[in-house]
Amino acid sequence: MLDGRRVLLIISGGIAAYKSLELIRRLKDKGCAVRCILTRGGANFVTPLAVAALSGDKVYQETFSLTDEAEMGHIRLSREADLVVVAPATANLLAKMAAGIADDLASTALLATDKPVLVAPAMNTMMWDHAATRANMAVLEGRGISRIGPNSGDLACGEVGGGRMAEPAEILAAIEAHLGGGAGPLAGRRAIVTSGPTHEPIDPVRYIANRSSGKQGHAIASALAALGAEVTLVSGPVTLPDPAGLTTVRVESAADMLRAVEAALPADIAVCAAAVADWTVANRSGEKRKKSPGAPPPVIELTPNPDILATLSKPGPRRPRLVVGFAAETEKLMEHARDKLARKGCDWIVANDVSAGSGTFGGDSNAVHVIDASAAESWPRLGKDEVAARLAARIAAALEGTP
Ligand code: C5P
Repeated sequence: MLDGRRVLLIISGGIAAYKSLELIRRLKDKGCAVRCILTRGGANFVTPLAVAALSGDKVYQETFSLTDEAEMGHIRLSREADLVVVAPATANLLAKMAAGIADDLASTALLATDKPVLVAPAMNTMMWDHAATRANMAVLEGRGISRIGPNSGDLACGEVGGGRMAEPAEILAAIEAHLGGGAGPLAGRRAIVTSGPTHEPIDPVRYIANRSSGKQGHAIASALAALGAEVTLVSGPVTLPDPAGLTTVRVESAADMLRAVEAALPADIAVCAAAVADWTVANRSGEKRKKSPGAPPPVIELTPNPDILATLSKPGPRRPRLVVGFAAETEKLMEHARDKLARKGCDWIVANDVSAGSGTFGGDSNAVHVIDASAAESWPRLGKDEVAARLAARIAAALEGTP
């Protein structure tokens, strides 16, 4: 599927650069042509000779090298590729990309390219969590740049946290999702993912909501797409950009979410990661509720919302083959999750602890237990992207060999 495709790989300066050598090898094994730009920083970690030997091509290093420019200008270099991959992408290079700075060959090629760009960030956890890096990443994603990782775990600097570059296999899967035209273990499968909170209107200006950020659901949608699934992401109101490579339907209330989910059927896979409000306002006012001196405060009457997960799980011809629900609990996690599995009729429950101090709601990591009818699997605390990648891989394995 990558045979004959062309990747421009930009290797910037981080210890994770050694993993990019492995990535080059894997891409070459698949018949993909890999041309590499090695930044000055990158060359501190891997040698041009190693990159050239593995890619089977010359390595491009300096913008103003007369020979490089004569043989292959930066414009051509950036355009004669089907995909530009930046791995590792340092905080510095991400910042330059966000600002449009072009002061070396890598940043110039990134500014000049008209091709899709995939970045694999790698840095110290404080640098990844820094508001500046977050803002730069949000700008880049808003422009349609795709991101894979970073994962969380042990970092080369001795700290533990987010910032570890995605593994070569994960980057390869993301490249295949971009270039393979729907190839991957979930190619030909349709998936629906719900994500984010819902807003239940009280009147035209007020609503009931919750603290869900949508990060986990959005990451799952991207991870399923990266494995080749055709994904519809039905998202409540979130501040996240619409992920690349899939269809996002934005909704407000639970009723809207159910309608959008039903419109997206049929599907092979449904993952309900949204924090759907349990109740909506029965006495919703068409006009803004006014306060008047001396009058008692208004009473908001609640009525149950439709349960999207339970609706999807109902046996019938339109039931997705695999329905996965989430259980956000603050106590008796496993007990409630098992109960939910039975009550909702879904196949798996991903249970997470959202008690105060867990950092799950709105945070970037999650410690989950995956529970099905026969077993429970506990995963360590991982970045939400990594939870998503693992869950997508587990889904692909469960569906393997099924029609
Ligand atoms: O019942 P509870 O809200 O704890 O169940 C959580 C699971 O059910 C999540 O997967 C959530 O997306 C889903 N859900 C739903 N529709 C609702 C309520 C919850 O799909 N109205």
